[in-house]
Amino acid sequence: MSEALIPYGRHVIDADDLAAVTEVLRGDWLTTGPAVARFEEGFAQYVGAPHAVAVSNGTAALHLAMLAIGIKPGDEVIVPALTFAASANSVRYAGGTVVFADVRDDTLTVDPAHVASLITARTKAIVAVDYAGLPADLAPLLDLCNTHGLILVEDACHAPGAEYHERRVGSIAHLSVFSFHPVKHMTTGEGGMVTSANAELAGRVRLLRNHGISSDHRQRELAGTWSYDMLELGFNYRLPDLLCALGLSQLKKLPTWLARRRALAARYRAELDAVPGIRVPIEPDDRRHAWHLYPVRVVADDVAAARQAMYSALRADGIGVNVHYLPVYLHSYYQGLGYARGLCPVAEAAYDGLLSLPMWHGMTDEQFDKVIDAVRKHAPSPRTAGAA
Ligand SMILES: Cc1ncc(COP(=O)(O)O)c(C=O)c1O
Repeated sequence: MSEALIPYGRHVIDADDLAAVTEVLRGDWLTTGPAVARFEEGFAQYVGAPHAVAVSNGTAALHLAMLAIGIKPGDEVIVPALTFAASANSVRYAGGTVVFADVRDDTLTVDPAHVASLITARTKAIVAVDYAGLPADLAPLLDLCNTHGLILVEDACHAPGAEYHERRVGSIAHLSVFSFHPVKHMTTGEGGMVTSANAELAGRVRLLRNHGISSDHRQRELAGTWSYDMLELGFNYRLPDLLCALGLSQLKKLPTWLARRRALAARYRAELDAVPGIRVPIEPDDRRHAWHLYPVRVVADDVAAARQAMYSALRADGIGVNVHYLPVYLHSYYQGLGYARGLCPVAEAAYDGLLSLPMWHGMTDEQFDKVIDAVRKHAPSPRTAGAA
C-alpha cells in the first residue's frame, strides 16, 4: 500500500489493543489459554448466539463448517457467484460440488428464487453471503432449508453487527462464519469465528479445530492428566491467546466503529446518489447494513471500459478503489472444472460495473472529502451514462 493512497479498507490498532496483547505476552499462555474462551464468550454475546468457536481465519471457519455438517463427495452446496473464492472453496475442501446461484440485481445478495430452482436430491446446504455487509435475504433461504432438510451456512465475514429482521447475523443461520482479516470490521491479524445455536455442530467445529482431539492442552493441565484421544481427523486451526486478546479488545470498539461506518455510508449516499454515471448501494428496510465495503456501480454504455477508466483515474488521484468480486466460477480453477460463462448473468453484469470506494472506521473526514471530490470528477459523464 502506498503512503499516499487512501485504501479501500484498513485496520485501526489503539493503545488498549497493544496493552491487551502485551499482557498475554507476559503471561503463561500464548496459545489456547484463558483469552480464547473470553473472546468466544464476548463474540457469542455480541451476535446473540449460544456458541462461538474461534479459529485461525475465516477460510478455516468455512472449511470446518462444511465438515461439521458432513459435506462429502457427491453432495451439492449452493453458493452465490458474487463472493470471495473461499465461500466456494470450502465446499471443495470437503469434496463437495459447488452449485453457483445468481444474485439479485438490487442487493447483490443471493437470489432465493434462483436458489430454489437449483435444489436437487443431492443438495445438502446453502451458503448465504452477506455481500459488502448487507445480510442476505435469510427468511426465504431458511424456508427452503426447512422444506428440503438443508443446512444454512451464513458467510458473515463482511457483516459483524449487521441485522436481519432486527436480529444480529450470527444468531440466525444454522452456522455463521466471520473473519478478522485486517480489512474487516475488527481484526486479529488473521482470525475467524464460527457461531451457532446448535451445540452439536459447534462441538464438532471445536473438535476439528484441534486435530480431532477431545481435550486441549490447558484442559489436561488443569485436570492433571496426560491422556487424550483423537476421535477423528482434524486440523490445527486454533486461534492463539495472543490474537484472542487482540480480538476481545477490538470487539469492545466494534459498536463505535460500526456507527462510524454507517455515518460514512449515509454521507456517501447524500453526496453521490444524484451523481450520474454511478449507482450507490441500497439498504432494504428489513436489514441493517454493516458496510464492510461501499461498492458503487458504474453506469455507462460500455460499463467495463468506463469502470476501468474510473478505477485508473481514481488510483492516479490517490484513491485506493478495488473491485469485489469477479464471479467465483470465472476464476481459472473453476473454469477448469467446467463452469461456463453465462451461468449467473446478474453477477456477471454487476461485476463489470463494480467499484469499491474506501470504507473503514478510521477514515478521516478530510480523506472522505477527497474521495467525494475525486468520484465526482471521474464518474462517467452523463453523455455515456444512463444505459444501465
Ligand atoms: C466473503 C468472505 N468469505 C470468506 C473470507 C475468508 O476469510 P479469511 O481471509 O479470514 O480466511 C473472506 C475474506 O476476505 C470473505 O470476504
